[in-house]
Amino acid sequence: MEQPLVTVEQPAEGVCLIRLQRPAKLNALSEQLIAQFMAVLETGAVRTSRVIVLAGSGRAFCAGADLTEFRDPSPEGTYDYYRGPGQIWEVLPRLPQPSVAAIHGYAIGGGAELALSADLRVADETAVFGFPEVSLGILPSAGGMTRLVRMVGVARAKQLILLGERFDAAQALEMGLVAQVVAAGDAEAAALRLAGTLAAQPPLALQVTRTLIDRSDDVPLAASIELEKLAQGMLSMSSDAYRAE
Ligand code: COA
Repeated sequence: MEQPLVTVEQPAEGVCLIRLQRPAKLNALSEQLIAQFMAVLETGAVRTSRVIVLAGSGRAFCAGADLTEFRDPSPEGTYDYYRGPGQIWEVLPRLPQPSVAAIHGYAIGGGAELALSADLRVADETAVFGFPEVSLGILPSAGGMTRLVRMVGVARAKQLILLGERFDAAQALEMGLVAQVVAAGDAEAAALRLAGTLAAQPPLALQVTRTLIDRSDDVPLAASIELEKLAQGMLSMSSDAYRAE
């Protein structure tokens, strides 16, 4: 039987660990791997989880889209790709539960963009990030350009994307791209610890607040502040809400 390219485990209550399992190709996102990733999302283990941890196997997190697969470069082909396998960069933000990327080794191109699509990132000291797309005559178009701008600001995003220089875990921490840097080999354990903390949070408050944080860039300031108050009205009535005796 062929080895799966994506596996899912339940290492702790409420937490599922999705692992990219294509180490010989640095977990490059082939269409077959992406199909398995999408299928894994439909499993009970993922659907019933409160938090998802995404990790790579072997010596890298992910080296991006599989550059050896033919992709129709026409405008139509590009759009078809992003309506099909290219959805992989949008699935984590759309899931109800938050996600944590555990990054070691390379997180390059589409691999870096996949990491950015998670809610939180933990890196170990071996992590190497980079956006080589412009040097390949294209751009990070799997959400990475936009997400990077929102996470680190215009000036830094230009620096990282236009120059295409790789950067390490300490630089990622300094920019706020990762929540923690840990010793080599400890990224997954650290991500699982964060996931455990998230899983222990009241789930509705977590989901609603995460969604509003994500949307806060899309709506005017006053509307976003109004949304906070509407959500407060809703969450205050939930069974998890603290009430003074
Ligand atoms: N697509 C397909 N295969 C890839 C790949 C990708 N994006 N990235 C790495 N691989 C494969 C290599 O071809 C190699 O396969 P082989 O052993 O059968 O020859 C294997 O993974 C190991 O990669 P290698 O390049 O030998 O490792 P390295 O440590 O010397 O370099 C990188 C690592 C990440 C710097 C380098 O692999 C690289 O630049 N990859 C492409 C990254 C990229 O441009 N991604 C953008 C796509 S959005």
